[in-house]
Amino acid sequence: MFISQEVINQHLSKPIFSILSEAADDLGLETYLIGGFVRDIFLYRKSNDIDIVTVGSGIQLAKTVAKKLGKNVRITVFKNFGTAQIKYKQYELEFVGARKESYTHDSRNPIVEDGTIEDDQNRRDFTINALALCLNKDRFGQLVDPFNGMQDMEDLTLKTPLDPDITFSDDPLRMMRAIRFAAQLGFDISPDTFDAIERNKERINIISKERIVDELNKIMLSPMPSVGFILLEKTGLLDIIFPELIALKGAETKDGVGHKDNFYHTLVVLDNISKTSDNLWLRWAALLHDIGKPATKRWDPKLGWTFHNHDFVGHKMIPQIFRRMKLPLNEKMKYVQKVVAMHMRPMQLVEEEVTDSAIRRLLFEAGDDIDDLMKLCEADITSKNPNKVRRFLQNFKIVRQKLKEIEEKDRVRNFEPPIDGNEIMQLFDLGQTPLVGRLKSAIKDAILDGVIPNEYEAAYQFLMGKAAELGITPRENLLGNKDEKNDN
Ligand code: CTP
Repeated sequence: MFISQEVINQHLSKPIFSILSEAADDLGLETYLIGGFVRDIFLYRKSNDIDIVTVGSGIQLAKTVAKKLGKNVRITVFKNFGTAQIKYKQYELEFVGARKESYTHDSRNPIVEDGTIEDDQNRRDFTINALALCLNKDRFGQLVDPFNGMQDMEDLTLKTPLDPDITFSDDPLRMMRAIRFAAQLGFDISPDTFDAIERNKERINIISKERIVDELNKIMLSPMPSVGFILLEKTGLLDIIFPELIALKGAETKDGVGHKDNFYHTLVVLDNISKTSDNLWLRWAALLHDIGKPATKRWDPKLGWTFHNHDFVGHKMIPQIFRRMKLPLNEKMKYVQKVVAMHMRPMQLVEEEVTDSAIRRLLFEAGDDIDDLMKLCEADITSKNPNKVRRFLQNFKIVRQKLKEIEEKDRVRNFEPPIDGNEIMQLFDLGQTPLVGRLKSAIKDAILDGVIPNEYEAAYQFLMGKAAELGITPRENLLGNKDEKNDN
Protein backbone atom coordinates (compact mmCIF):
# COMPACT_ATOMS: atom_id res chain seq x y z
CA MET A 1 0.00 0.00 0.00
CA PHE A 2 1.30 3.38 -0.87
CA ILE A 3 0.69 5.91 1.82
CA SER A 4 3.25 8.62 1.64
CA GLN A 5 5.19 9.64 4.68
CA GLU A 6 3.64 13.02 3.99
CA VAL A 7 0.16 11.70 4.92
CA ILE A 8 1.52 10.27 8.16
CA ASN A 9 3.37 13.48 8.96
CA GLN A 10 0.27 15.49 8.23
CA HIS A 11 -1.65 13.47 10.83
CA LEU A 12 1.15 13.88 13.32
CA SER A 13 1.48 17.62 12.74
CA LYS A 14 -1.13 18.42 15.41
CA PRO A 15 0.36 19.97 18.58
CA ILE A 16 -0.70 17.01 20.76
CA PHE A 17 1.85 14.76 19.04
CA SER A 18 4.75 17.21 19.57
CA ILE A 19 3.85 17.26 23.26
CA LEU A 20 3.81 13.45 23.41
CA SER A 21 7.13 13.38 21.59
CA GLU A 22 8.75 15.89 23.95
CA ALA A 23 7.50 14.03 27.03
CA ALA A 24 8.81 10.71 25.70
CA ASP A 25 12.24 12.22 24.94
CA ASP A 26 12.41 14.02 28.30
CA LEU A 27 11.99 10.63 30.00
CA GLY A 28 14.18 8.83 27.46
CA LEU A 29 11.37 6.37 26.72
CA GLU A 30 10.91 4.69 23.34
CA THR A 31 7.26 5.57 22.58
CA TYR A 32 4.75 4.73 19.85
CA LEU A 33 1.25 5.37 18.65
CA ILE A 34 -0.46 2.03 18.15
CA GLY A 35 -3.80 0.30 17.54
CA GLY A 36 -6.97 1.70 16.03
CA PHE A 37 -5.69 5.27 15.69
CA VAL A 38 -2.79 4.20 13.46
CA ARG A 39 -4.97 1.75 11.51
CA ASP A 40 -7.54 4.46 10.89
CA ILE A 41 -4.96 6.84 9.40
CA PHE A 42 -4.50 4.35 6.57
CA LEU A 43 -8.24 3.80 6.22
CA TYR A 44 -8.95 7.53 6.13
CA ARG A 45 -11.22 7.17 9.16
CA LYS A 46 -11.27 9.90 11.76
CA SER A 47 -10.42 8.84 15.29
CA ASN A 48 -9.80 10.73 18.51
CA ASP A 49 -9.01 7.68 20.64
CA ILE A 50 -5.24 7.55 20.77
CA ASP A 51 -3.37 4.55 22.18
CA ILE A 52 0.21 5.20 23.23
CA VAL A 53 2.61 2.45 24.16
CA THR A 54 5.95 3.12 25.75
CA VAL A 55 8.85 0.82 26.54
CA GLY A 56 8.76 1.69 30.24
CA SER A 57 6.08 3.11 32.52
CA GLY A 58 2.91 4.26 30.78
CA ILE A 59 1.80 5.97 33.98
CA GLN A 60 5.01 7.98 34.28
CA LEU A 61 4.72 9.09 30.65
CA ALA A 62 1.05 10.06 31.14
CA LYS A 63 1.92 12.18 34.18
CA THR A 64 4.66 14.01 32.26
CA VAL A 65 2.30 14.61 29.35
CA ALA A 66 -0.43 15.88 31.68
CA LYS A 67 2.02 18.41 33.19
CA LYS A 68 2.91 19.69 29.74
CA LEU A 69 -0.73 19.98 28.72
CA GLY A 70 -1.46 22.37 31.60
CA LYS A 71 -4.12 22.71 34.26
CA ASN A 72 -7.36 21.72 32.59
CA VAL A 73 -6.41 18.14 31.97
CA ARG A 74 -8.09 15.13 33.50
CA ILE A 75 -5.78 12.21 34.17
CA THR A 76 -6.97 8.88 35.53
CA VAL A 77 -4.46 6.33 36.68
CA PHE A 78 -5.24 2.59 36.82
CA LYS A 79 -2.38 1.46 39.03
CA ASN A 80 -3.38 -2.22 38.97
CA PHE A 81 -3.28 -2.34 35.20
CA GLY A 82 -0.26 -0.04 34.83
CA THR A 83 -2.26 2.22 32.52
CA ALA A 84 -3.39 5.85 32.53
CA GLN A 85 -5.92 7.87 30.61
CA ILE A 86 -5.96 11.55 29.75
CA LYS A 87 -8.96 13.41 28.43
CA TYR A 88 -7.84 16.50 26.59
CA LYS A 89 -9.96 18.53 24.19
CA GLN A 90 -11.52 16.04 21.76
CA TYR A 91 -8.89 13.41 22.50
CA GLU A 92 -8.87 10.37 24.73
CA LEU A 93 -5.29 9.30 25.28
CA GLU A 94 -4.55 5.83 26.68
CA PHE A 95 -1.05 5.14 27.98
CA VAL A 96 0.36 1.70 28.56
CA GLY A 97 3.82 0.20 29.05
CA ALA A 98 4.92 -2.30 26.39
CA ARG A 99 4.00 -5.76 27.66
CA LYS A 100 4.64 -9.38 27.15
CA GLU A 101 1.63 -11.35 28.19
CA SER A 102 0.55 -14.89 28.64
CA TYR A 103 -2.89 -15.99 29.71
CA THR A 104 -4.12 -18.82 31.83
CA HIS A 105 -6.59 -21.15 30.17
CA ASP A 106 -9.76 -20.33 32.06
CA SER A 107 -9.43 -16.62 32.52
CA ARG A 108 -8.96 -13.44 30.59
CA ASN A 109 -6.59 -12.08 33.22
CA PRO A 110 -3.12 -12.16 31.80
CA ILE A 111 0.19 -12.63 33.56
CA VAL A 112 1.99 -9.48 32.51
CA GLU A 113 5.70 -8.73 32.21
CA ASP A 114 7.51 -5.73 30.75
CA GLY A 115 8.48 -6.24 27.14
CA THR A 116 9.78 -4.67 23.96
CA ILE A 117 7.63 -2.94 21.35
CA GLU A 118 7.68 -6.14 19.31
CA ASP A 119 6.48 -8.19 22.32
CA ASP A 120 3.65 -5.72 22.65
CA GLN A 121 2.72 -5.88 18.97
CA ASN A 122 2.79 -9.68 19.19
CA ARG A 123 0.08 -9.74 21.81
CA ARG A 124 -2.36 -7.58 19.87
CA ASP A 125 -5.39 -8.91 18.03
CA PHE A 126 -4.79 -8.27 14.33
CA THR A 127 -1.82 -7.25 12.24
CA ILE A 128 -3.64 -4.08 11.12
CA ASN A 129 -4.11 -3.16 14.78
CA ALA A 130 -0.46 -3.85 15.60
CA LEU A 131 1.00 -1.12 13.38
CA ALA A 132 3.05 1.37 15.39
CA LEU A 133 4.30 4.89 14.62
CA CYS A 134 7.32 6.07 16.57
CA LEU A 135 6.93 9.35 18.46
CA ASN A 136 10.55 9.95 19.54
CA LYS A 137 12.07 12.93 17.80
CA ASP A 138 14.86 11.10 15.96
CA ARG A 139 12.43 8.54 14.47
CA PHE A 140 9.25 10.67 14.48
CA GLY A 141 6.56 9.16 12.23
CA GLN A 142 8.53 5.98 11.47
CA LEU A 143 6.27 2.98 10.87
CA VAL A 144 7.08 -0.22 12.76
CA ASP A 145 5.34 -3.16 11.12
CA PRO A 146 6.92 -6.52 11.92
CA PHE A 147 3.89 -8.58 10.81
CA ASN A 148 3.22 -7.14 7.37
CA GLY A 149 0.17 -5.29 8.61
CA MET A 150 0.42 -2.85 5.70
CA GLN A 151 0.19 -5.71 3.24
CA ASP A 152 -2.91 -7.01 5.05
CA MET A 153 -4.31 -3.50 4.98
CA GLU A 154 -3.85 -3.42 1.23
CA ASP A 155 -5.37 -6.89 0.84
CA LEU A 156 -8.23 -5.93 3.20
CA THR A 157 -7.42 -8.97 5.33
CA LEU A 158 -7.78 -9.59 9.04
CA LYS A 159 -5.02 -11.83 10.33
CA THR A 160 -3.63 -12.40 13.80
CA PRO A 161 0.04 -11.57 14.46
CA LEU A 162 0.58 -14.89 16.28
CA ASP A 163 -0.88 -18.34 15.68
CA PRO A 164 -4.64 -17.50 15.75
CA ASP A 165 -5.33 -20.30 18.24
CA ILE A 166 -3.11 -18.49 20.73
CA THR A 167 -4.47 -15.00 19.96
CA PHE A 168 -8.10 -16.13 20.32
CA SER A 169 -7.52 -18.35 23.26
CA ASP A 170 -5.77 -15.45 25.04
CA ASP A 171 -8.81 -13.23 24.59
CA PRO A 172 -11.81 -14.93 22.98
CA LEU A 173 -13.60 -11.61 22.50
CA ARG A 174 -11.21 -11.12 19.59
CA MET A 175 -13.27 -13.65 17.63
CA MET A 176 -16.19 -11.23 17.83
CA ARG A 177 -13.86 -8.33 17.07
CA ALA A 178 -12.66 -10.06 13.89
CA ILE A 179 -16.24 -10.34 12.71
CA ARG A 180 -17.03 -6.81 13.81
CA PHE A 181 -14.05 -5.40 11.88
CA ALA A 182 -15.06 -7.47 8.83
CA ALA A 183 -18.54 -5.91 8.93
CA GLN A 184 -17.42 -2.43 9.90
CA LEU A 185 -14.36 -2.03 7.64
CA GLY A 186 -15.26 -4.37 4.78
CA PHE A 187 -12.27 -6.66 5.42
CA ASP A 188 -12.11 -10.43 4.90
CA ILE A 189 -11.02 -12.77 7.64
CA SER A 190 -8.03 -14.82 6.43
CA PRO A 191 -8.82 -18.56 6.14
CA ASP A 192 -6.46 -19.60 8.98
CA THR A 193 -7.91 -16.98 11.27
CA PHE A 194 -11.45 -17.99 10.31
CA ASP A 195 -10.76 -21.68 10.97
CA ALA A 196 -9.36 -20.79 14.38
CA ILE A 197 -12.58 -18.98 15.28
CA GLU A 198 -14.52 -22.12 14.44
CA ARG A 199 -12.17 -24.21 16.59
CA ASN A 200 -12.19 -21.83 19.55
CA LYS A 201 -15.82 -20.71 19.47
CA GLU A 202 -16.72 -22.32 22.81
CA ARG A 203 -14.20 -20.06 24.54
CA ILE A 204 -16.61 -17.17 23.96
CA ASN A 205 -18.41 -18.48 27.04
CA ILE A 206 -15.77 -17.01 29.34
CA ILE A 207 -16.45 -13.51 28.02
CA SER A 208 -18.91 -11.24 29.80
CA LYS A 209 -22.24 -10.63 28.12
CA GLU A 210 -21.64 -6.88 28.25
CA ARG A 211 -18.50 -7.13 26.12
CA ILE A 212 -20.20 -9.48 23.67
CA VAL A 213 -23.20 -7.23 23.21
CA ASP A 214 -20.91 -4.25 22.77
CA GLU A 215 -19.41 -5.94 19.72
CA LEU A 216 -22.83 -7.09 18.55
CA ASN A 217 -24.07 -3.51 18.65
CA LYS A 218 -21.09 -2.42 16.58
CA ILE A 219 -21.98 -5.11 14.04
CA MET A 220 -25.59 -3.87 14.12
CA LEU A 221 -24.41 -0.33 13.39
CA SER A 222 -22.13 -1.32 10.50
CA PRO A 223 -23.18 -0.43 6.95
CA MET A 224 -24.32 -3.99 6.10
CA PRO A 225 -24.89 -5.86 9.36
CA SER A 226 -25.70 -9.09 7.49
CA VAL A 227 -21.97 -9.48 6.77
CA GLY A 228 -21.35 -9.85 10.49
CA PHE A 229 -24.32 -12.11 11.18
CA ILE A 230 -23.44 -14.46 8.34
CA LEU A 231 -19.89 -14.74 9.69
CA LEU A 232 -21.23 -15.31 13.21
CA GLU A 233 -23.43 -18.07 11.83
CA LYS A 234 -20.71 -19.67 9.68
CA THR A 235 -18.19 -19.76 12.52
CA GLY A 236 -20.73 -21.28 14.92
CA LEU A 237 -20.59 -18.34 17.32
CA LEU A 238 -24.20 -17.35 16.67
CA ASP A 239 -25.44 -20.69 17.91
CA ILE A 240 -23.79 -20.00 21.26
CA ILE A 241 -24.63 -16.33 21.71
CA PHE A 242 -28.00 -16.06 19.94
CA PRO A 243 -29.76 -19.40 19.41
CA GLU A 244 -33.12 -17.71 18.69
CA LEU A 245 -31.70 -16.40 15.41
CA ILE A 246 -30.44 -19.84 14.42
CA ALA A 247 -33.97 -21.18 15.01
CA LEU A 248 -35.10 -18.93 12.12
CA LYS A 249 -32.92 -20.87 9.70
CA GLY A 250 -34.27 -23.31 7.17
CA ALA A 251 -37.05 -23.48 4.61
CA GLU A 252 -39.39 -26.45 4.88
CA THR A 253 -41.49 -27.74 2.00
CA LYS A 254 -44.69 -29.73 2.28
CA ASP A 255 -46.95 -30.85 -0.55
CA GLY A 256 -44.82 -28.72 -2.83
CA VAL A 257 -45.42 -25.60 -0.71
CA GLY A 258 -42.40 -23.93 0.84
CA HIS A 259 -41.85 -20.94 3.07
CA LYS A 260 -38.96 -18.51 2.98
CA ASP A 261 -35.86 -19.00 5.10
CA ASN A 262 -36.59 -16.53 7.86
CA PHE A 263 -32.95 -16.16 8.90
CA TYR A 264 -31.83 -14.83 5.53
CA HIS A 265 -35.06 -12.85 5.15
CA THR A 266 -34.36 -11.20 8.53
CA LEU A 267 -30.86 -10.26 7.41
CA VAL A 268 -32.17 -8.68 4.22
CA VAL A 269 -34.66 -6.66 6.28
CA LEU A 270 -31.84 -5.61 8.62
CA ASP A 271 -29.67 -4.49 5.69
CA ASN A 272 -32.63 -2.66 4.17
CA ILE A 273 -33.39 -0.73 7.33
CA SER A 274 -29.69 0.08 7.72
CA LYS A 275 -29.89 2.00 4.45
CA THR A 276 -32.59 4.27 5.83
CA SER A 277 -31.89 4.48 9.57
CA ASP A 278 -28.92 4.64 11.95
CA ASN A 279 -31.20 4.09 14.94
CA LEU A 280 -29.65 1.10 16.74
CA TRP A 281 -32.97 0.14 18.32
CA LEU A 282 -34.89 0.21 15.08
CA ARG A 283 -32.19 -2.08 13.71
CA TRP A 284 -32.74 -4.37 16.70
CA ALA A 285 -36.48 -4.35 15.94
CA ALA A 286 -35.65 -5.38 12.37
CA LEU A 287 -33.43 -8.21 13.62
CA LEU A 288 -36.17 -9.42 15.96
CA HIS A 289 -39.27 -8.69 13.90
CA ASP A 290 -39.84 -12.36 12.98
CA ILE A 291 -38.26 -13.92 16.06
CA GLY A 292 -41.65 -15.42 17.01
CA LYS A 293 -41.93 -17.34 13.75
CA PRO A 294 -40.35 -20.68 14.74
CA ALA A 295 -42.65 -20.98 17.77
CA THR A 296 -45.79 -20.23 15.75
CA LYS A 297 -45.08 -22.16 12.56
CA ARG A 298 -47.95 -24.45 11.57
CA TRP A 299 -48.94 -26.39 8.49
CA ASP A 300 -52.52 -25.85 7.43
CA PRO A 301 -53.73 -28.03 4.54
CA LYS A 302 -55.83 -25.14 3.23
CA LEU A 303 -53.60 -22.16 3.94
CA GLY A 304 -50.16 -23.75 3.67
CA TRP A 305 -47.51 -22.52 6.13
CA THR A 306 -48.80 -20.06 8.70
CA PHE A 307 -47.11 -18.06 11.46
CA HIS A 308 -50.20 -16.72 13.20
CA ASN A 309 -49.51 -14.36 16.05
CA HIS A 310 -45.75 -14.40 15.48
CA ASP A 311 -45.77 -10.63 16.03
CA PHE A 312 -47.34 -11.05 19.47
CA VAL A 313 -45.19 -14.07 20.43
CA GLY A 314 -42.09 -12.24 19.18
CA HIS A 315 -42.81 -9.19 21.30
CA LYS A 316 -43.24 -11.47 24.33
CA MET A 317 -39.85 -13.11 23.71
CA ILE A 318 -37.92 -9.85 23.69
CA PRO A 319 -37.55 -9.24 27.47
CA GLN A 320 -35.94 -12.64 28.01
CA ILE A 321 -33.54 -12.08 25.09
CA PHE A 322 -32.65 -8.58 26.31
CA ARG A 323 -32.15 -9.83 29.86
CA ARG A 324 -29.87 -12.67 28.82
CA MET A 325 -27.82 -10.50 26.49
CA LYS A 326 -27.56 -7.66 29.03
CA LEU A 327 -29.28 -5.24 26.70
CA PRO A 328 -31.15 -2.39 28.44
CA LEU A 329 -34.48 -3.34 30.01
CA ASN A 330 -35.83 0.19 29.77
CA GLU A 331 -37.80 2.27 27.29
CA LYS A 332 -35.42 1.15 24.50
CA MET A 333 -36.60 -2.42 24.98
CA LYS A 334 -40.21 -1.28 25.16
CA TYR A 335 -39.74 0.54 21.86
CA VAL A 336 -38.30 -2.61 20.22
CA GLN A 337 -41.21 -4.63 21.62
CA LYS A 338 -43.76 -2.16 20.34
CA VAL A 339 -42.34 -2.02 16.82
CA VAL A 340 -42.13 -5.83 16.68
CA ALA A 341 -45.68 -6.19 18.00
CA MET A 342 -47.01 -3.74 15.41
CA HIS A 343 -44.89 -4.72 12.40
CA MET A 344 -47.78 -6.48 10.59
CA ARG A 345 -50.29 -3.70 11.07
CA PRO A 346 -49.61 -1.43 8.07
CA MET A 347 -49.48 -4.46 5.79
CA GLN A 348 -52.76 -5.82 7.14
CA LEU A 349 -54.24 -2.41 6.64
CA VAL A 350 -53.20 -2.40 3.01
CA GLU A 351 -54.63 -5.85 2.48
CA GLU A 352 -57.97 -4.80 3.89
CA GLU A 353 -59.14 -1.31 3.13
CA VAL A 354 -57.33 1.86 4.02
CA THR A 355 -60.19 3.46 5.96
CA ASP A 356 -59.79 6.66 7.93
CA SER A 357 -60.68 4.90 11.15
CA ALA A 358 -58.05 2.16 10.62
CA ILE A 359 -55.45 4.85 9.94
CA ARG A 360 -56.53 6.78 13.05
CA ARG A 361 -56.14 3.65 15.18
CA LEU A 362 -52.70 2.94 13.75
CA LEU A 363 -51.60 6.51 14.42
CA PHE A 364 -53.00 6.43 17.95
CA GLU A 365 -51.31 3.15 18.85
CA ALA A 366 -47.96 3.82 17.17
CA GLY A 367 -47.73 7.44 18.42
CA ASP A 368 -44.38 8.99 17.61
CA ASP A 369 -42.99 5.64 16.47
CA ILE A 370 -45.21 5.63 13.38
CA ASP A 371 -42.43 6.72 11.02
CA ASP A 372 -40.05 4.03 12.28
CA LEU A 373 -42.79 1.44 11.97
CA MET A 374 -43.44 2.43 8.38
CA LYS A 375 -39.72 2.25 7.63
CA LEU A 376 -39.58 -1.28 9.03
CA CYS A 377 -42.60 -2.33 7.00
CA GLU A 378 -41.02 -1.06 3.83
CA ALA A 379 -37.75 -2.79 4.70
CA ASP A 380 -39.75 -5.98 5.29
CA ILE A 381 -40.69 -6.23 1.62
CA THR A 382 -38.11 -8.70 0.37
CA SER A 383 -40.10 -10.53 -2.31
CA LYS A 384 -38.14 -11.46 -5.42
CA ASN A 385 -41.21 -10.75 -7.56
CA PRO A 386 -40.74 -7.17 -8.82
CA ASN A 387 -44.47 -6.69 -9.48
CA LYS A 388 -45.30 -7.64 -5.93
CA VAL A 389 -42.64 -5.30 -4.57
CA ARG A 390 -43.92 -2.44 -6.72
CA ARG A 391 -47.50 -3.07 -5.59
CA PHE A 392 -46.59 -3.16 -1.89
CA LEU A 393 -44.49 -0.04 -2.12
CA GLN A 394 -47.28 1.75 -3.97
CA ASN A 395 -49.76 0.69 -1.28
CA PHE A 396 -47.48 1.92 1.47
CA LYS A 397 -47.24 5.23 -0.33
CA ILE A 398 -51.02 5.47 -0.07
CA VAL A 399 -50.87 4.57 3.63
CA ARG A 400 -48.21 7.22 4.24
CA GLN A 401 -50.24 9.82 2.38
CA LYS A 402 -53.37 8.94 4.39
CA LEU A 403 -51.40 9.02 7.63
CA LYS A 404 -50.30 12.54 6.79
CA GLU A 405 -53.81 13.70 5.93
CA ILE A 406 -55.42 12.20 9.02
CA GLU A 407 -52.70 13.48 11.32
CA GLU A 408 -53.13 16.99 9.95
CA LYS A 409 -56.90 16.76 10.27
CA ASP A 410 -57.44 14.89 13.53
CA ARG A 411 -54.14 15.08 15.46
CA VAL A 412 -54.62 11.66 17.02
CA ARG A 413 -50.92 10.68 17.13
CA ASN A 414 -50.46 11.23 20.86
CA PHE A 415 -53.94 12.19 21.83
CA GLU A 416 -55.61 11.71 25.18
CA PRO A 417 -59.42 11.63 25.06
CA PRO A 418 -60.68 15.15 25.92
CA ILE A 419 -62.57 13.80 28.95
CA ASP A 420 -60.54 11.69 31.36
CA GLY A 421 -61.51 9.13 33.98
CA ASN A 422 -61.50 11.62 36.86
CA GLU A 423 -63.93 13.87 35.10
CA ILE A 424 -66.21 10.92 34.31
CA MET A 425 -66.20 9.92 37.99
CA GLN A 426 -67.15 13.44 38.99
CA LEU A 427 -69.78 13.89 36.30
CA PHE A 428 -71.62 10.74 37.31
CA ASP A 429 -70.65 10.54 40.96
CA LEU A 430 -68.97 7.22 40.33
CA GLY A 431 -66.25 5.50 42.31
CA GLN A 432 -63.47 3.50 40.69
CA THR A 433 -65.67 1.07 38.81
CA PRO A 434 -65.09 -0.65 35.46
CA LEU A 435 -67.90 1.56 34.13
CA VAL A 436 -65.55 4.54 34.13
CA GLY A 437 -63.11 2.67 31.90
CA ARG A 438 -65.93 1.63 29.62
CA LEU A 439 -67.17 5.18 29.17
CA LYS A 440 -63.65 6.46 28.61
CA SER A 441 -62.95 3.81 25.95
CA ALA A 442 -66.26 4.59 24.27
CA ILE A 443 -65.15 8.22 23.85
CA LYS A 444 -61.73 7.17 22.55
CA ASP A 445 -63.26 4.68 20.09
CA ALA A 446 -65.80 7.22 18.86
CA ILE A 447 -62.98 9.66 18.09
CA LEU A 448 -60.79 7.03 16.43
CA ASP A 449 -63.72 5.73 14.40
CA GLY A 450 -64.56 9.25 13.28
CA VAL A 451 -68.00 9.24 14.94
CA ILE A 452 -67.15 12.49 16.73
CA PRO A 453 -64.32 15.00 16.29
CA ASN A 454 -61.46 15.13 18.78
CA GLU A 455 -63.08 18.02 20.76
CA TYR A 456 -64.40 18.50 24.30
CA GLU A 457 -67.97 19.56 23.51
CA ALA A 458 -68.55 16.70 21.09
CA ALA A 459 -67.04 14.24 23.57
CA TYR A 460 -69.27 15.59 26.35
CA GLN A 461 -72.43 15.20 24.32
CA PHE A 462 -71.40 11.74 23.22
CA LEU A 463 -70.64 10.74 26.81
CA MET A 464 -74.06 11.92 28.00
CA GLY A 465 -75.74 9.90 25.25
CA LYS A 466 -73.71 6.82 26.09
CA ALA A 467 -74.45 7.16 29.81
CA ALA A 468 -78.17 7.48 29.13
CA GLU A 469 -78.02 4.27 27.08
CA LEU A 470 -76.46 2.56 30.08
CA GLY A 471 -78.98 4.07 32.45
CA ILE A 472 -76.44 6.19 34.33
CA THR A 473 -77.62 9.53 35.63
CA PRO A 474 -75.33 12.56 35.71
CA ARG A 475 -74.54 13.99 39.17
CA GLU A 476 -76.04 17.30 38.05
CA ASN A 477 -79.45 15.65 37.71
CA LEU A 478 -78.94 13.73 40.93
CA LEU A 479 -78.18 16.95 42.76
CA GLY A 480 -81.10 18.63 41.01
CA ASN A 481 -83.48 15.95 42.27
CA LYS A 482 -82.06 16.25 45.78
CA ASP A 483 -82.53 20.02 45.72
CA GLU A 484 -86.11 19.60 44.58
CA LYS A 485 -86.72 17.22 47.49
CA ASN A 486 -85.18 19.74 49.93
CA ASP A 487 -87.43 22.46 48.59
CA ASN A 488 -90.46 20.43 49.44
N1 CTP B 1 -6.71 -4.91 21.41
C1 CTP B 1 -6.45 -6.26 21.36
N2 CTP B 1 -7.37 -7.17 21.81
C2 CTP B 1 -8.56 -6.74 22.28
C3 CTP B 1 -8.86 -5.39 22.33
C4 CTP B 1 -7.90 -4.48 21.87
O1 CTP B 1 -5.37 -6.64 20.94
N3 CTP B 1 -9.44 -7.63 22.71
C5 CTP B 1 -5.68 -3.95 20.97
C6 CTP B 1 -5.66 -3.70 19.46
O2 CTP B 1 -4.34 -3.42 19.10
C7 CTP B 1 -6.53 -2.48 19.30
C8 CTP B 1 -6.15 -1.67 20.53
O3 CTP B 1 -5.93 -2.67 21.54
O4 CTP B 1 -6.27 -1.79 18.12
C9 CTP B 1 -7.20 -0.69 20.97
O5 CTP B 1 -8.40 -1.36 21.24
P1 CTP B 1 -9.84 -0.70 21.08
O6 CTP B 1 -9.76 0.74 21.42
O7 CTP B 1 -10.80 -1.57 21.78
O8 CTP B 1 -10.17 -0.90 19.56
P2 CTP B 1 -9.69 -0.18 18.27
O9 CTP B 1 -8.84 -1.12 17.49
O10 CTP B 1 -9.11 1.14 18.58
O11 CTP B 1 -11.03 -0.03 17.43
P3 CTP B 1 -12.39 0.67 17.85
O12 CTP B 1 -12.04 1.96 18.48
O13 CTP B 1 -13.11 0.79 16.57
O14 CTP B 1 -13.06 -0.27 18.78
